[in-house]
Amino acid sequence: MVQNVAEFQAQAAPAPPKALVDPAHNGVGAACDPFSWKIDAMWDRVAQAQEDNTYYYFQPVEELDGPWVITEGKRKLMFATYTYLGLLNHPRIVAAAKAATDKYGAGTHGVRILGGTLDMHAQMERTIAEFVGRDDAIVYSSGYVTNLATISTLVGRGDCVFSNKWNHASIVDGCVLARGEFKRFRHNDIDDLERQLRRAPESAGKLVVADAVFSMDGDIFNLPDAVELCHRYNAWLMVDEAHSLGVLGATGRGIEEHFDMPGCIDVKMGTLSKTIPGVGGYIAGDHKLITFLRHTARAFVFSAALPPSVAGAIIEAFHVLEDEAVERKEILSRNVRHFIDGLQAVGFDTGVTVTPIVPIMVGKEGTAMQMTKYCQDHGVFVLPVLPPAVQEGAARLRANVTAAHSIADIDFALDIFTAAGREAGVIG
Ligand SMILES: Cc1ncc(COP(=O)(O)O)c(C=O)c1O
Repeated sequence: MVQNVAEFQAQAAPAPPKALVDPAHNGVGAACDPFSWKIDAMWDRVAQAQEDNTYYYFQPVEELDGPWVITEGKRKLMFATYTYLGLLNHPRIVAAAKAATDKYGAGTHGVRILGGTLDMHAQMERTIAEFVGRDDAIVYSSGYVTNLATISTLVGRGDCVFSNKWNHASIVDGCVLARGEFKRFRHNDIDDLERQLRRAPESAGKLVVADAVFSMDGDIFNLPDAVELCHRYNAWLMVDEAHSLGVLGATGRGIEEHFDMPGCIDVKMGTLSKTIPGVGGYIAGDHKLITFLRHTARAFVFSAALPPSVAGAIIEAFHVLEDEAVERKEILSRNVRHFIDGLQAVGFDTGVTVTPIVPIMVGKEGTAMQMTKYCQDHGVFVLPVLPPAVQEGAARLRANVTAAHSIADIDFALDIFTAAGREAGVIG
């Protein structure tokens, strides 16, 4: 049966075979093939899912038609998307990407710190900094790399990093890579965070990290209490705005605008692959922090610059946000309300979401798979989220609604989700 990515990875990596040393192979003590057991395990799982016709990963999109996609010849309404404001094929952004390629070519001369910086990269970083209200910004090659590099660069020996338990894998991996102590606090539990901060040595550098909007459940980080606590314990706060840029706040500027607390985050992280239709990730902060990262974050210093097309698209996307975010956000809010209300009206549990990330809770993995198959077979592109990505018994479909969906689109999807839920016995 098909699983989500995390489960695929977990189950395809069972305990290594007891004897990795095969005396019969090339003489006593010679190592037998040390990696094939895990490669074979993954191979078998993928093959089984494909044979069961329940493998929904890597479906190639062949054509876009607003929020609809053509994949393997079938037209499906996309709900497995992060393009919250529907900017994926915005004409101004597409034109900017083309113009940048015409002017600078397809690639760059390499890493930013040596020959790879274009005037356009500097412009891109200024544009981001201005939009999110900071002195400066640094752009890395992906959101994942941004978290990995920034956390591991800041948190050295003797420091402590405190990470919300539901944080994204890139934050977790950044904490693992950091040389300091890695602590986790219970999801959005400020008392637990305080307990852990209290126990840390006073002299340790302390970094608290959280997603602004949690990517599996769609709820929002308790920023006001976290800021107060960080001040009290002399800790820095880093917030990942992957799912809040363009989504939270009247003008889409994210969680600080949502709580009316401008400037309260020390290390402001965001991705350029969700509301912003490009690739990359940024840290925005004061000049000194950004200068420090530009010269010490290894994934920035030793990795090539973003191509001109992407930098051009990103700059224009922020200008489009300035011009259109308010209007698009209103449509998005209307769609989120219509979608969640519609799901709840037929009896679905949508968990704790208050954002476009809408979990449709179903409990068992098999049920999530059955519903996914029904939806995919009936024209809705949605994917399941299964343990260990979420807790045991908390399997769900994750359906992200966007400003590109029309009310008619959402009603179509609601009919399919309802039929799928009835068939699987999730709702009556
Ligand atoms: C909260 C969060 N942070 C970081 C990332 C990584 O961003 P990117 O896909 O741009 O590398 C993601 C990706 O989904 C995410 O959800």
